[in-house]
Amino acid sequence: MSRTLTGIQPSGTLHIGNYFGAMRPAIDAQAKAECYFFIADYHSMTSLWDSTQRRRNTLDVALDWLACGLDPARSVFWKQSDVPEVAELMWIIGTLTPMGLLERAHSYKDKTAKGISANFGLFAYPVLMAADILLYDTHRVPVGKDQKQHVEMTRDIAIKFNQTYSETFVVPESVIREDVAVVPGLDGQKMSKSYGNTIDIFGDEKATKKKIMGIVMDSRTPQEPKPDADKNVAIQLLKLVAPEEVSTDYERRLREGGLGYGDLKKALFEHYWTYFAPYRAKRAELAANLDHVNALLRDGAAKARATANGVLGRARAACGL
Ligand code: ADP
Ligand code: TRP
Repeated sequence: MSRTLTGIQPSGTLHIGNYFGAMRPAIDAQAKAECYFFIADYHSMTSLWDSTQRRRNTLDVALDWLACGLDPARSVFWKQSDVPEVAELMWIIGTLTPMGLLERAHSYKDKTAKGISANFGLFAYPVLMAADILLYDTHRVPVGKDQKQHVEMTRDIAIKFNQTYSETFVVPESVIREDVAVVPGLDGQKMSKSYGNTIDIFGDEKATKKKIMGIVMDSRTPQEPKPDADKNVAIQLLKLVAPEEVSTDYERRLREGGLGYGDLKKALFEHYWTYFAPYRAKRAELAANLDHVNALLRDGAAKARATANGVLGRARAACGL
């Protein structure tokens, strides 16, 4: 059976771009593959230096994923740092990773271009990500477009190790859902917490409504036909949260004229609220029983560790340790 793995950074409140771009495809994959999901707390150390915040984010991300349908009975779910073997594998494969490969990484280039001063962790981040993937004999890695390069680097590293020593690692593939590859934010740019244009999955009702009603539109009157209706941000978001016949109907009414932007935004809020209602209820239930959530993560770590030790043993033997 093919194994799917993905990591989630505990770096802040999750938004519907994260949900449709990363969580939904990963959660759907549980039906057809053995899934490994982990909270990448080591990775969060390249951009967050507040220990209380890290602990809180880690728990929040665990609650978010479990509420949205991660099934711990079927999938392995753990916190990255509970399997510290990944740091040893990072060293092993780091010695086969060319500097040039890391210097070409978009994530590093983008951050240093923005003036963020680089540390070794930020530079080595793709090697840690490769270790995350290779440590569990992963076949498929569901990620957003921005992470594709990291999976390609992982393939290069795996192939190089297999050629240098002996056949040891599975060479993984990235899985990118093209139809939701980029979820737009409130301002039409890519939705991202760094652009302040997000709709949170578990946002407060009043605040989220205010955000959605505040989406800036053009000044055309409701009656005017809008041939560019498919480019409208509210329509694009409605397509994600409403049944297809509903969003198609709103798009048609906007194109033909007669639908006001206010009514469109109200519909978007209502469908968003309904779409996430069952997850909201599940999350409240989990949050009331944190001992249970922590026990789930501990069990997950034990399972992940058993797989990790097998693969690490193979890698150590292959390179003569
Ligand atoms: P952010 O841009 O808010 O910092 P992250 O970089 O932490 O989000 O992304 C976490 C996951 O969610 C990644 O797999 C990423 O590709 C995906 N993702 C983030 N924003 C979007 C978006 N707007 N559309 C689709 N996928 C997204
Ligand atoms: N780098 C990923 C992100 O920022 C998170 C991540 C860490 C990951 N390790 C991974 C994703 C391994 C997939 C596989 O979103």
